Amino acid sequence: MSHAPGTASTAAPSPNALPSYLDANNLGPWGIYLQQVDRVTPYLGSLARWVETLKRPKRALIVDVPIHLDDGTVAHFEGYRVQHNTSRGPGKGGVRFHQDVTLSEVMALSAWMSIKNAAVNVPYGGAKGGIRVDPRRLSRAELERVTRRYTSEIGIIIGPNKDIPAPDVNTDEQIMAWMMDTYSMNQGSTATGVVTGKPVDLGGSLGRREATGRGVFTVGVEAAKHIGLDVAQARVAVQGFGNVGGIAAKLFAETGARVVAVQDHGGTIYREAGLNVPELLKHVAEHRTVAGFAGAETLPNDQFWEVDCEILIPAALEGQINKTNAGRIKARMVIEGANGPTTPEADDILQERNVLVLPDVIANAGGVTVSYFEWVQDFSSFFWDEDEINARLVRIMRAAFAGIWQVAQDHKVSLRTATFIVACTRILHTRELRGLYP
Ligand SMILES: NC(=O)c1ccc[n+]([C@@H]2O[C@H](COP(=O)([O-])OP(=O)(O)OC[C@H]3O[C@@H](n4cnc5c(N)ncnc54)[C@H](O)[C@@H]3O)[C@@H](O)[C@H]2O)c1
Repeated sequence: MSHAPGTASTAAPSPNALPSYLDANNLGPWGIYLQQVDRVTPYLGSLARWVETLKRPKRALIVDVPIHLDDGTVAHFEGYRVQHNTSRGPGKGGVRFHQDVTLSEVMALSAWMSIKNAAVNVPYGGAKGGIRVDPRRLSRAELERVTRRYTSEIGIIIGPNKDIPAPDVNTDEQIMAWMMDTYSMNQGSTATGVVTGKPVDLGGSLGRREATGRGVFTVGVEAAKHIGLDVAQARVAVQGFGNVGGIAAKLFAETGARVVAVQDHGGTIYREAGLNVPELLKHVAEHRTVAGFAGAETLPNDQFWEVDCEILIPAALEGQINKTNAGRIKARMVIEGANGPTTPEADDILQERNVLVLPDVIANAGGVTVSYFEWVQDFSSFFWDEDEINARLVRIMRAAFAGIWQVAQDHKVSLRTATFIVACTRILHTRELRGLYP
């Protein structure tokens, strides 16, 4: 119904109205995020009056990405860039290339970036992007064309001071180099600060590639102290042996922990005495999978979840720990390297069983923390050495985790809810300070 200018609506829309562009009966990941916000609202005090801000993305751009395929035909792909919140600074978050990406998923991932960035207190809002494409079906030249056209299309809302993309699933340093180049060509000057996760020779940061795994390890060690777990004696199981899982496993093994089981897309391997992680990394670099590694036995994939261990690190995909396997997990602590690896039902089961979950929104925040360092270094064109970067990363992660642990104790809530309390309070406090324009 329309109203004459200046007259008030008699039927004001509900403040909780869901966006018309999502299916209210099948909200997808955005629905999970909304539940998490509802759980935290009672702890926000007077800032709760602003909470509706968090339930709507500030801006969602849907773009058509047409490219010439190598065979001369034209293909179209759907692309997104969502800026969930920019109260604390420019948007920041990765770009995912996957055939199943949806607007709901990108909205949720952008909101989790708002939470993550506020949790480690880096001066960013949250954003995320994606293209519905299976990059394995594209040639390198087609992949470059998709990346460049997408970057050009979202170029109207990204920029070093507006929104800074980064790698995510199926996007890497090369794709960041193409994004940086495309944006720079359109602007007429090189703008290294428009994306992070770039090659080191193109304004990337030392330590960025290892940063997420190092953050996983750092919060794991801190949490272990609180529950009286000796990391050097612990057994560790890792799902996903890529960037995040591989580095986290290496760092745990270096402290003396035994990495007893590893699962990736190719299979599951096990060795009670502990796998030789440096050798396994070499094997994966050569064979692209842990399967076939000498000096380990093979387990059926489903048995991975009931392996005897103290620390379980999901570092692959979303929804891996769910109501079918959460009851079988033997670990004392789950460290979420992946984004969204635990469903809300599984979260409740683990909490009832006294398994401590270190949630993604703090556990895998090491990546964005060093992305922040990369952005700062690009602005000043002054680059730091790796020891300095790692020392700053560890300091930020430890301080952030200590604050969240204290909030969890004070309110007797899970670490996930505690992280949301800390982050939402920071975001909404800045919202209140800034006020509403106009
Ligand atoms: N790379 C980062 O900086 C970063 C930062 C924050 C969060 N994350 C999240 O961490 C997760 C992993 O990212 P990554 O950068 O390590 O990716 P990656 O591509 O380097 O590694 C992914 C790993 O998952 C494994 N895998 C894929 N499908 C699987 C399956 N069905 N079962 C078991 N294992 C499977 C792959 O074999 C591979 O070992 C993602 O959820 C990502 O969003 C990554």
